Amino acid sequence: MKVVGLMSGTSADGVDAALVSIARQKAGIQVKMLAFHSLPYPRSLQQRILSASVSGTVADICHLNALLGEWFADAALGVIRSADLTSEEVDLIGSHGQTVHHLPAGIKDTNVGSIRSTLQIAEPAVITERTGITTVANFRPRDIAAGGQGAPLTPGVHALLFRHPRRSRLIVNLGGISNVTYLPRGSGTEGLVAFDTGPANMVLDGIMSRKTNGRSLMDREGRLALRGQVDSRLLAKLLAHPYLSQPPPKSTGREAFGSTMLDELLSWQQTRSMPTEDLLATCSRWTAEAVGTARRWIKGRVDEVIVGGGGVRNRAIMGQLTALYAPIPVTTFESHGWDSKALESVAFAVLAYQTVMEQSGNVPSVTGAAFSRLLGCIVPSGPRWLERLRPSRRKK
Ligand SMILES: Nc1ncnc2c1ncn2[C@@H]1O[C@H](COP(=O)(O)OP(=O)(O)O)[C@@H](O)[C@H]1O
Ligand SMILES: [Mg+2]
Repeated sequence: MKVVGLMSGTSADGVDAALVSIARQKAGIQVKMLAFHSLPYPRSLQQRILSASVSGTVADICHLNALLGEWFADAALGVIRSADLTSEEVDLIGSHGQTVHHLPAGIKDTNVGSIRSTLQIAEPAVITERTGITTVANFRPRDIAAGGQGAPLTPGVHALLFRHPRRSRLIVNLGGISNVTYLPRGSGTEGLVAFDTGPANMVLDGIMSRKTNGRSLMDREGRLALRGQVDSRLLAKLLAHPYLSQPPPKSTGREAFGSTMLDELLSWQQTRSMPTEDLLATCSRWTAEAVGTARRWIKGRVDEVIVGGGGVRNRAIMGQLTALYAPIPVTTFESHGWDSKALESVAFAVLAYQTVMEQSGNVPSVTGAAFSRLLGCIVPSGPRWLERLRPSRRKK
């Protein structure tokens, strides 16, 4: 099956699209990436998404849902073109959508108790209409309805792609938020520990954007952080953030580490006349140390740490991770045949495949859900969509 995975993370930097081929094997599946394409959001669109995530009106969210549907469809068509294929040759799309709100701790509501929720937008009906391809979207809500956090959902895919018979691995994804997956040697999902560790690029991007009035949206290659000194008092304060000591299952987002946190950091900086380089160095170190908290909940050794996500380009974070885990080797997804930027979009292609093959996608021990569940909502391409996807169901 040829499947496109579409993803835009909490950084809201743009849509990543991966085209993969998935083949069924005796033990599990084999996934091969055929093409990858990124469609960056223009700065103005990123700003609209970020502000709508905090204080958007119903009209803003309604409009953005349809607008982002077009962007996600364009990204899908882009990756299909770059593989020299046509839409007719692609079977399925899995779209994560764009998270605009994630409330895994829940909000108390009269009579019914605490209700957890999450909201990803980028209308899948638009994606199917523009591409003609059956699309699976809205993966997280089913896990939440089954008692989970709805996140992280990539660990099951990490297990499929990275599990090693003799080496225990820690997979790290440095997105806006960072998450880890511990894969003890062996197969399957037993012993797997995974959760969001806290902020990664989100805080650094926020500092850069505020300090440069939006001219610079990231600390490219971590250059500024590398010139700064870690402030041990601020680091101690950041490491005391209650999220870091909360045991898994846990997941987080911009609600906890977005603009309020940024205001606090910038006012700390101002009252102490701290150079921005030092603030960036301290927050980069915080990211690495938050990843290091994984050691509290992992039982067993780690033979290697394998890092992906946009943050692998940040040499400050990568240097601090390497120092923190030494002598355990810290490598990137590239050393294992995967593109660091692409893996999350690959994961949503695999999750969509699992849904149409009637396989569960969540790992209940990771998300806290009571059960394994088939994830997602499906927008069918047209009549006989399932027969076309599942050869075994085809009428002879
Ligand atoms: N060259 C680079 N140098 C430093 N940081 C980078 C670089 N390229 C990307 N990043 C960081 O990676 C982030 C995007 O990573 P990504 O994995 O797409 O996160 P998300 O899943 O949250 O969208 C950017 O916002 C930026 O902070
Ligand atoms: Mg991204």
